Amino acid sequence: MKIAVTSASGKLGGSIVKHLIKEVGKEHVIAIARTPEKAKHLGVEIRKGDYNNREDFNLALKGIDIVLLVSGMDEPQKRIIQHRNVIEAAKSNGVKKIVYTSIVGAEENNAFSPIVQSNRQTEKDIISSGLEWVIGRNGIYIEPDLEYLETYVKEGEIRNCAGEGKCTYTSREELGYAYAKMLLEEKHNGKTYNLAGNAITQSELVTYINQIYDTQLVFNSISFEEYATERKAALGDFMGTIIAGIYEGIKEGAYNVSSDFEKAADRPHKSPLEMIKNFKG
Ligand SMILES: NC(=O)c1ccc[n+]([C@@H]2O[C@H](COP(=O)([O-])OP(=O)(O)OC[C@H]3O[C@@H](n4cnc5c(N)ncnc54)[C@H](OP(=O)(O)O)[C@@H]3O)[C@@H](O)[C@H]2O)c1
Repeated sequence: MKIAVTSASGKLGGSIVKHLIKEVGKEHVIAIARTPEKAKHLGVEIRKGDYNNREDFNLALKGIDIVLLVSGMDEPQKRIIQHRNVIEAAKSNGVKKIVYTSIVGAEENNAFSPIVQSNRQTEKDIISSGLEWVIGRNGIYIEPDLEYLETYVKEGEIRNCAGEGKCTYTSREELGYAYAKMLLEEKHNGKTYNLAGNAITQSELVTYINQIYDTQLVFNSISFEEYATERKAALGDFMGTIIAGIYEGIKEGAYNVSSDFEKAADRPHKSPLEMIKNFKG
């Protein structure tokens, strides 16, 4: 059996490859990457795959039984077309099953909604592909906050527009574990799972970070307009709007969802404190 993971040079794709290797061994896992040299460290066969290039995937998916499609990073309308390149190539290569990493979030009236809508369109494309399928709707990763810690410490605070909204954070590590099961076990076929952890506020997140990293951060809530202006200045219009939309969504409860993680992974999701502890190592 051959299982391929797209965007394997990225952090989520890499985590899924790592967990798959633990389950089935290196010889059954193929890493597909737009930039193959960035996936070398995974120690498995690497094939080239740029979502913009259907021909890449016609070749990369030869002899593959199951493919995991990691959602892309581009503008919403482009993503839909890019994902279709992978779905169509999977169909024409006789791939039997496709697993897709989608996202939890507000489908309307939020700055992040266009991204959520594009993920929902790909879900529909996958469901109507005729292949066996499983869809995971990922919660928000906890790692970016931890990777950003140096900046938070410099500023003495975590500042965003989430207010008292709760977010069911997950981690790329937890997702990697669950997706390996979803790829390998047939009982998940035809299921859409929310892959998320326990719901916490930003104030609770700050308390846990302070506990593990021995920091003295505080949480300060600012308006969406103020936060969007700040993030756009730092990250550009596209990414700044996405980030502000995510925190707006947290405030509105879009990420306070019931989780199917245990159904997918056959074990409970790790608590936020455990995820932070594991990330620190
Ligand atoms: N749930 C969340 O909190 C959350 C947060 C951020 C992102 N996401 C979504 O989850 C996905 C994976 O996240 P991550 O943490 O693994 O991101 P990451 O570490 O930044 O990796 C992004 C990956 O996407 C690949 N990529 C970009 N454009 C591509 C293209 N045209 N064709 C093929 N691959 C392409 C990159 O390849 P190169 O190595 O060639 O650049 C890289 O492997 C993201 O793409 C995004 O859709 C979710």
